[in-house]
Amino acid sequence: MRTPPGTPPEPGAPGLSDATRGRILFGGDYNPEQWPEETWPEDVRLMKEAGVNSVTLGVFSWARLEPRPGAREFGWLDRLMDLMHEHGIGVVLATPTSSPPPWLGRLHPETLPRDEDGRTEWWGSRQHFSHSSAVYRRRAAAITEDLAARYGAHPALTMWHINNEYCTTDHGDEAAGAFRRWLQDRYGTLGALNTAWGTACWGQSYDDWHEIVPPRHAHYLKNPTQVLDFRRFTSDMLLECCAAERDIVRRHSPAIPVTSNFMPMWVGQDAWRWAAEEDVVSVDLYPDPRDPLGAQYGALVQDMTRSQAAGGSWMLMEQAAGAVSWRTVNHPKPRGLNRLWSLQAVARGADAVCYFQWRASRQGAEKFHSGMIGHAGEPGRGFQEIKEIGAELALLAPHVAGTRVPAGIAILHDWNSWWAGAHEGALSARNDYAEVLRAWHRALWEAHLTTAFAHPEHDLSGYRMVVVPQLYLLTDRAIENLTAYARAGGTLVCGFLTGVADEDDRVRPGGMDERLRDLFGIRTLHEWWPLDPGETAVCDGFTGTLWSEEIEPGPDAVVEARYRGGELDGLPAVLRRGTARYLSTLPEPPALRALLTGAAEQAGVRPVLDELPDGVEAVRRGGLLFLLNHGRDPVTVEVPGSHRDLLGGANVRDRVRLERLGAAVLAP
Ligand code: GLA
Repeated sequence: MRTPPGTPPEPGAPGLSDATRGRILFGGDYNPEQWPEETWPEDVRLMKEAGVNSVTLGVFSWARLEPRPGAREFGWLDRLMDLMHEHGIGVVLATPTSSPPPWLGRLHPETLPRDEDGRTEWWGSRQHFSHSSAVYRRRAAAITEDLAARYGAHPALTMWHINNEYCTTDHGDEAAGAFRRWLQDRYGTLGALNTAWGTACWGQSYDDWHEIVPPRHAHYLKNPTQVLDFRRFTSDMLLECCAAERDIVRRHSPAIPVTSNFMPMWVGQDAWRWAAEEDVVSVDLYPDPRDPLGAQYGALVQDMTRSQAAGGSWMLMEQAAGAVSWRTVNHPKPRGLNRLWSLQAVARGADAVCYFQWRASRQGAEKFHSGMIGHAGEPGRGFQEIKEIGAELALLAPHVAGTRVPAGIAILHDWNSWWAGAHEGALSARNDYAEVLRAWHRALWEAHLTTAFAHPEHDLSGYRMVVVPQLYLLTDRAIENLTAYARAGGTLVCGFLTGVADEDDRVRPGGMDERLRDLFGIRTLHEWWPLDPGETAVCDGFTGTLWSEEIEPGPDAVVEARYRGGELDGLPAVLRRGTARYLSTLPEPPALRALLTGAAEQAGVRPVLDELPDGVEAVRRGGLLFLLNHGRDPVTVEVPGSHRDLLGGANVRDRVRLERLGAAVLAP
């Protein structure tokens, strides 16, 4: 179960290409059980018209498949699987285990999760299952077994989809028992646990395993390592559930790839470990159409997902054709945006562009969520655009499917560090890990420098430059990895609050690991000086935000920028020793961009193109150049030489015009 992060897929294991077979998968979640059966032929007709070649079935169908304990109603699914096969549409078949039927909770209330305050999460929504419940696991295995036995050899089946967006926690009693077993496995003895958790503080020492409970409602700040371990445990428990179902479906259909869809940048799952357990890495992605940096957020998630797939192709399992139904205000996508963001996913390595969902529901909690066919039906703008996208993806497929996206820069990211840094007793509640990561990715994205993500213990030797926006917690192995990388001549740029804590969230002597201080030329880190909202730190040539630090440089450090004025006047804001740089603040976006661009230049990493108009994104995939205009005005992009635009079919010489939200995919 414990596959180390970054493990490449086993040779001979099935992968996404077994499902795509040279195509780009196009389609989405199909919930025909919400519609009278008479609509199914009409659905298929429209799917064919739109170029849909893949549907995801059964995601929430447990109650339909097993309406009462032990019953099996597969007839409707038999008919659907056959219908799809008849029309050449592949099926990504989901195990229905993310929404247990009401009878399970009624007969076995212990399958329902409890939150920190002891409140039960009842049925009537979805995801009301405890990952630690033996009954839930047994029932989930039973329905998965029967599903896999029945459809494992069905010719329509192209992929297994386990559960859906695993994301639950449970603080109840059965979870408490599982937590203890997980801790026994990790620490062996109570003495080791007491040491790791620092229970000497506030008299928390444990004398009996049964005294240990999940972090529950408490009077004041909770033990940080207990909270950290509970997050690790939760991620591992969910992964155990996922792997158990995976093993069942694999037994019945070893040649069919297995996936479980991630939520984008979801805090609750160590997706490095998860990805190593899957045949296909898939993600659901819903940038806000109104967010001026929505495309950047999309690019970040896509780069992350591709990296979890070890740089190979990945699957966009869900996106929205228009509005979602879970934001405070749900905005539709303006004309062209669905196409543009679909092409962006392909540019960044997706070989599958799919949606939640095929047809907008008329009832239920998501009745206002868009579909590939919206409430306006066939004549609706949304469906017309879907047809255009389907046709374009079919055009692109022979040129892109299976090709790779070169990236010279790695951004390091680790869930353990995110979890530990988010503790309520942190130095500043304003220091939001995900936001800092996003700021650094944005700087590189705006500079047209394509990035990958990597775990801090991954082999980094393939990257010319490595950046660490913030890794508060670093293992010894990760520190050795980083220092070895820089000592071998790699360009390393590291942000504040990195290397502060060890694996148990114990502050390293000196406030930052000695090996890292030495690497960056920091003699003493005297104090952290987090900034208040709106407060900035004036530095040479730029303004720092969010953070500052009182650092005394060592003798061979080069101070590239200093704080000016205030308590830290004259102290280093940016420090370099050899090829390793340390930023003790978060420079404002243009300054961070300039700084990282400068470092990339020194490292010999070139942007995809120079001199692009504002709002244009350029990405290379295989031999193709994707140009994406995220702006609302037409622009002209200089592209020296002659090319063929695969989308318009035109020959392009030296420059290409991109319409508002327009795109070009240039082949040599
Ligand atoms: C997630 C879920 C879907 C659906 C969409 C709505 O991605 O997996 O079932 O709820 O959100 O955006």
